[in-house]
Amino acid sequence: MVTKKPNNNPSGRSLHEKVKTSYKRTLSSTLWLERQLNDPYVAEARKLGYRSRAAFKLLQLQEKYHFLKEGMVVVDLGAAPGGWSQVAAKIIHAEKGKGTVIAMDYLEFPAIAGVRIFQQDFLSEEALTTLNSEIGEHGVDCVLSDMAAPTTGHTPTDHIRIVNLCENAFQFACSVLRPNGSFVCKVLQGGTETNLLKTVKQRFAKAYHAKPAASRKDSAEIYLVAMGFKG
Ligand SMILES: C[S@@+](CC[C@H](N)C(=O)[O-])C[C@H]1O[C@@H](n2cnc3c(N)ncnc32)[C@H](O)[C@@H]1O
Repeated sequence: MVTKKPNNNPSGRSLHEKVKTSYKRTLSSTLWLERQLNDPYVAEARKLGYRSRAAFKLLQLQEKYHFLKEGMVVVDLGAAPGGWSQVAAKIIHAEKGKGTVIAMDYLEFPAIAGVRIFQQDFLSEEALTTLNSEIGEHGVDCVLSDMAAPTTGHTPTDHIRIVNLCENAFQFACSVLRPNGSFVCKVLQGGTETNLLKTVKQRFAKAYHAKPAASRKDSAEIYLVAMGFKG
């Protein structure tokens, strides 16, 4: 499984393409397109059939911390377009009926074998009702959250919004995890992430901040990985 930064583009196309500016495109979308075309993870995700380059972030976190195992029940929050769910389903062998992934996003995305998809806003009451009834009394082994609200461009606002998503995901995880379960959550560096880590450490045997290689260096994004839920 390729989780290190791929060196070349399997399509054979140069990874140093410049995109011509166009009157139909804004400068930021030209730069985004250029970055996508030159990103080896984007090319590798396409080659391996992953729906997002984000799939490599989960693969790299898993390679380091081993929180996913065959037969587990996993909840994937902010799952669209489905890269993390694809990775989790493969590792737990969900397509062979050995475990299950319950995926939620307010955006629609196509089905994945072994993944139950719910199109709802995780912050709504209805979403919690859905998740709790899907999970039942048996609980969950791992809660993943790659949720990110659309950015406003105002850094403190973006930070507060993602911290709110993390805190809600953490509370949810504490309410559904089985003893010894895991919680993996995207956070943005910007001030309060250390407080969240301290809070999480009180409920889990181990908790870390991690920056997988696939997470862009210029992004404030890091991941919180907590294992050994104390119940
Ligand atoms: C970075 S993307 C996730 C990528 C995904 N892990 C993958 O590998 O394909 C973040 C997702 O979080 C979702 N999201 C943000 N806030 C949400 C909320 N309140 N409820 C459900 N989904 C949410 C967005 O719609 C978006 O699809």
